[in-house]
Amino acid sequence: MQTWDAIRSRRNVREYTDRSIPDEDLDRILEAARRAPSSRNWQPWDFVVVTDRRQLQELSEVWRAAAHVARSAATVALVAREPASQQERDWIQYDFGQATMSMAIAAADLGIGSGHASVADQERARQVLGLPPDRFCAYLVALGYPRQPLRPISEPNRRPFGDVVHRGRW
Ligand SMILES: Cc1cc2nc3c(=O)[nH]c(=O)nc-3n(C[C@H](O)[C@H](O)[C@H](O)COP(=O)(O)O)c2cc1C
Repeated sequence: MQTWDAIRSRRNVREYTDRSIPDEDLDRILEAARRAPSSRNWQPWDFVVVTDRRQLQELSEVWRAAAHVARSAATVALVAREPASQQERDWIQYDFGQATMSMAIAAADLGIGSGHASVADQERARQVLGLPPDRFCAYLVALGYPRQPLRPISEPNRRPFGDVVHRGRW
């Protein structure tokens, strides 16, 4: 897929086929995350990849809107150190968003769907993922081949271009 098609095809995928993701494709998606830009290049992330079905099911219980994690072929847990300040917390949110988007585009390029999930129950996430006490799971990104294959979306459900784009001044 061309980059522009991958960008236009990406959407949150929550229903997956049973097909597993080849290791080299999963590694490419993780490499996309590793290469993401971050504030002062501090790279505040670690990535825990889960493919075991039982573990995926347990992980899906960390948030009420994370059921798709249980059905995914693989889920990447984005893990951060507990922030030392509000500023660090803000940087983590921005930087993890960039890593997430890089993964989503790399996945779409391979015809693989991705679906965010927030994490509410940090204790459960820590336990399922075996995280040290000074780390938390910022987000989950579920991956899998979509039941409805990805294709460029011509009319995305977004605010109109002319509404969000301001040229020169507001
Ligand atoms: C920070 C963030 C958290 C999200 N958390 C969840 C979630 O917990 N569960 C879920 O099903 N979708 C989650 N989403 C997906 C959004 O609902 C989705 O991206 C949005 O509705 C736009 O749809 P699209 O990605 O298909 O274009 C999250 C997205 C973001 C950016």
